[in-house]
Amino acid sequence: MTTHSTEELILEFDVARILLAEEEEEEEASYVVSLKDITAQKTLEEQLRQAQKLESLGTLASGIAHDFNNILGIIMGHSFLLERLKSDPVKLSQSIDAIEKATQRGAALVKQLLTFARKTEAVFESVLVNQIIEEVVKLLQETFSKTINVRSDLKRDLPIIVADSNQIYQVMINLCVNARDAMPMGGTLSIASTTVEGGALSSKFPRATAREYILLQVSDTGMGMDEVTRQRIFEPFFTTKGVGKGTGLGLALVHGIVENHHGSINVATELGKGTTFSIYLPVEERPIESHRTSKKAMEDVPGGTETILLIEDEEMLGELARAFLVSKGYTVLTARDGEEGVEAFSRHQKEISVVVTDMGLPKLGGEDVFKRIRAIDPKAKVILASGFIDPEVKSEMYKAGAKHFIQKPYSHDEVLQKVREVIDIK
Ligand SMILES: Nc1ncnc2c1ncn2[C@@H]1O[C@H](COP(=O)(O)OP(=O)(O)OP(=O)(O)O)[C@@H](O)[C@H]1O
Ligand SMILES: [Mg+2]
Repeated sequence: MTTHSTEELILEFDVARILLAEEEEEEEASYVVSLKDITAQKTLEEQLRQAQKLESLGTLASGIAHDFNNILGIIMGHSFLLERLKSDPVKLSQSIDAIEKATQRGAALVKQLLTFARKTEAVFESVLVNQIIEEVVKLLQETFSKTINVRSDLKRDLPIIVADSNQIYQVMINLCVNARDAMPMGGTLSIASTTVEGGALSSKFPRATAREYILLQVSDTGMGMDEVTRQRIFEPFFTTKGVGKGTGLGLALVHGIVENHHGSINVATELGKGTTFSIYLPVEERPIESHRTSKKAMEDVPGGTETILLIEDEEMLGELARAFLVSKGYTVLTARDGEEGVEAFSRHQKEISVVVTDMGLPKLGGEDVFKRIRAIDPKAKVILASGFIDPEVKSEMYKAGAKHFIQKPYSHDEVLQKVREVIDIK
């Protein structure tokens, strides 16, 4: 059965074979062909989809607006305090810390949204899952209330899996935040990792075809869920947490990511007792190379004495990045828009070792900046920075030779690392 869409009509085209008495020998066959006008039905379905989308957008917008307002409130409040706290170094550093944490939260929120909108591509590489869990545990111990006892039970020598480490991190965080929310009076949050044979899973998950799986479990001793809730938890925007408290995206995202990794999820829950989420991720036979750079390694990224051209229209961001790179020994030339950037490059191309350019620039966008710089010097090294690059644009740019990208908002360590890496490419 096929559906053909014309400009005005949507027709359903159906072919059915009928067997007539005299055709029992199967030498000849007869068919009934029918055409049905289903335009009205499709239009209604489309309207319904649009309406649902709009409703979701509303929920989404109010949730995000609330979260961002909180984040901005924290940043504004503490920025205001900074000036007054100059003489109190302890409080000053607390305020700076709070600002840093708030911006990280904002960045995480944006990332979550972009992942949800499937606007960030997954970067699959060899991943040590236990290392991610350890990072998560550390973060939880620092940030969750002390009434929540965080435990981990990790299997040693867990096989390496091929995964997107940021997404796995995101999965763990989302599950743990839910677990915390389920225990307002405190309780125990346990994270465990182990392995299971694929064979043992195939009855539960027919799609389980790998020989071995990593099993990650996040359990809480919280309120649990009733059956009605349990059935809806993976729906985008489904939340029981009240306006502004939850967007209902956490588990939808977890689900999407696990699917993306060809894994499965299982939920066991009991009202008043607690909940366990089990995530199964396949272990590939041949893990690819390239390890995740651990946060520790980043801390000792060396600086350099080369010259960098930094093209950034947000004055404050540009100035911060410039000052940081200068403090690491680099000479930094700056430009505030695309045209100025290209001009600066053509004037100083001999000295410039690498160009770091924003993608969304006034006058001339990052894409054109890249092309013009490459026209001046086909070997010029260019790092493109952006909050979001459409995967299509990115692959276009890849073809044009742009190979170095950095996701905004970036930490200074990340820029430092990328700059060094790109300059050192022979
Ligand atoms: N560990 C848990 N215990 C009890 N209920 C849970 C648990 N995890 C999820 N839920 C239920 O599933 C719902 C959906 O969870 P999800 O993470 O998708 O959204 P949220 O936590 O409400 O909002 P967000 O994650 O976007 O901030 C929650 O509102 C809650 O009712
Ligand atoms: Mg959640």
